[in-house]
Amino acid sequence: MNETLKTIAERYTCRSFTGTPVKREELEAITLAGAQAPTAANSQRFRIIVIDNKDYIDELDARMIAIFESQNPGAMDRIRDRGGKALYNASAMIFLAVEHSGPWSADLDGGIVIQNMVLAAHSLEVGSCINAMCRVLFEGEAGAEFKKQLQFPDGFDFCCGILFGYPTDFGRPHAPATDKIIWL
Ligand SMILES: Cc1cc2nc3c(=O)[nH]c(=O)nc-3n(C[C@H](O)[C@H](O)[C@H](O)COP(=O)(O)O)c2cc1C
Repeated sequence: MNETLKTIAERYTCRSFTGTPVKREELEAITLAGAQAPTAANSQRFRIIVIDNKDYIDELDARMIAIFESQNPGAMDRIRDRGGKALYNASAMIFLAVEHSGPWSADLDGGIVIQNMVLAAHSLEVGSCINAMCRVLFEGEAGAEFKKQLQFPDGFDFCCGILFGYPTDFGRPHAPATDKIIWL
């Protein structure tokens, strides 16, 4: 198996990080991989917003917990089962913003940007977790204010979050869904 196929086969979702800061050059390589992703008609309707301030990520974690505790007990149970932290002690986080314009799905482009970044991270032995649950941070008036703080350009919406850090949880990749492959 070549290195690319090995990285794809071995990547897994990490849900427990050491909290040690991710090296700047590693984050730069990860974001560069994202920026190299193909997009529909090379439209590049995405922004990769990087946060590498662990204290700020912990603050966002607390904000998410407060929202889930009051509004979503099911999500809170899942978080408790996974160690009690909504953002798993990540030391870096990316918010991917996309612009929903034109005939092609910006979320599809966003997914490819994300996949490039998590594969790049894995190849550097940096753990990652694609995180849609952080969508709650963008809800309501507080969410609109948060979007401003993150400097989303006008017309851009939240697509997904991605967490990064050095793993304490060395998960295993899921079995490939080969039963979903249909040969005619
Ligand atoms: C779009 C998307 C959103 C996800 N959101 C979350 C999330 O909010 N929290 C979480 O712990 N994992 C999240 N995951 C990780 C999935 O649960 C994980 O990829 C899946 O269970 C397969 O496991 P694997 O990545 O280890 O192969 C998300 C994955 C994707 C692709």
